[in-house]
Amino acid sequence: MKHTDRCSTGIKELNEMLLGGLPRGRTTLVEGLPGTGKTILSLHFLIAGILENPKDPEPAILVCLDESPSDVMREASAFGWNLQRLMDLKQLTIIDAFSGRLGLKPNLELAVPIGKFSIEEVTRLITEAKEEINAQRLVIDPVSALLDGMEGTERRNGVLSLTAVLTRLSLTTILTSELDQAGVGVERYASHGVIRLGYDEKDTTVSRKLRIVKMRETMHSMDVIPYEITVKGIELKV
Ligand SMILES: Nc1ncnc2c1ncn2[C@@H]1O[C@H](COP(=O)(O)OP(=O)(O)OP(=O)(O)O)[C@@H](O)[C@H]1O
Ligand SMILES: [Mg+2]
Repeated sequence: MKHTDRCSTGIKELNEMLLGGLPRGRTTLVEGLPGTGKTILSLHFLIAGILENPKDPEPAILVCLDESPSDVMREASAFGWNLQRLMDLKQLTIIDAFSGRLGLKPNLELAVPIGKFSIEEVTRLITEAKEEINAQRLVIDPVSALLDGMEGTERRNGVLSLTAVLTRLSLTTILTSELDQAGVGVERYASHGVIRLGYDEKDTTVSRKLRIVKMRETMHSMDVIPYEITVKGIELKV
């Protein structure tokens, strides 16, 4: 595998900013304030791997940590994405790492059981899903929930062991992270790339803006690009 191989993000203008897409087999952090579109951007990426190249689809895994899988599936349907259909076709596996943490019985086959939440358990489920559908892409949304309560060395080691497992599995990964979360710096340094979603507040108007903070081993655009979220998902206004 060449390091320069790229994976489409599903957003044409973002692919151009990245000179083709996200580096294959690497981990990119998508960070941003609440409601900036981290989950929607991640869904673009997962769907693109499956639908943009129907003859050679890249099956995907979505790990839901802060929202129930059924909520994410309903939100995705607003953009015309039928996640259930992709799951039925074995092109998508959703891991429920949400319900068990709240003491609720999960409905999905791959789920963290009540009282068993840990990075090790989540990586075990990712490994199982990878084998089952030969997954090439992964989203952990948000990774910050996986690291809750960890600080300093423990958090750093948690992030490093997670990214090491993902690299070994050769998964092209998006980790999402809440920008105002304490300790997010570790995720930034451990990730191959960082994309930041934010707001521009001016008087009575708020606009959205995207920027590539870093992407190792490649050139990329340094522009701050405005974007909108519409019925088509994320639309960059280049
Ligand atoms: N169907 C839709 N049409 C237009 N805009 C939408 C639609 N659904 C969501 N949005 C916009 O997208 C935002 C939510 O996007 P998303 O869930 O990806 O954000 P997020 O960064 O993941 O948020 P959080 O930090 O809460 O997880 C909403 O706040 C809204 O502004
Ligand atoms: Mg989200």
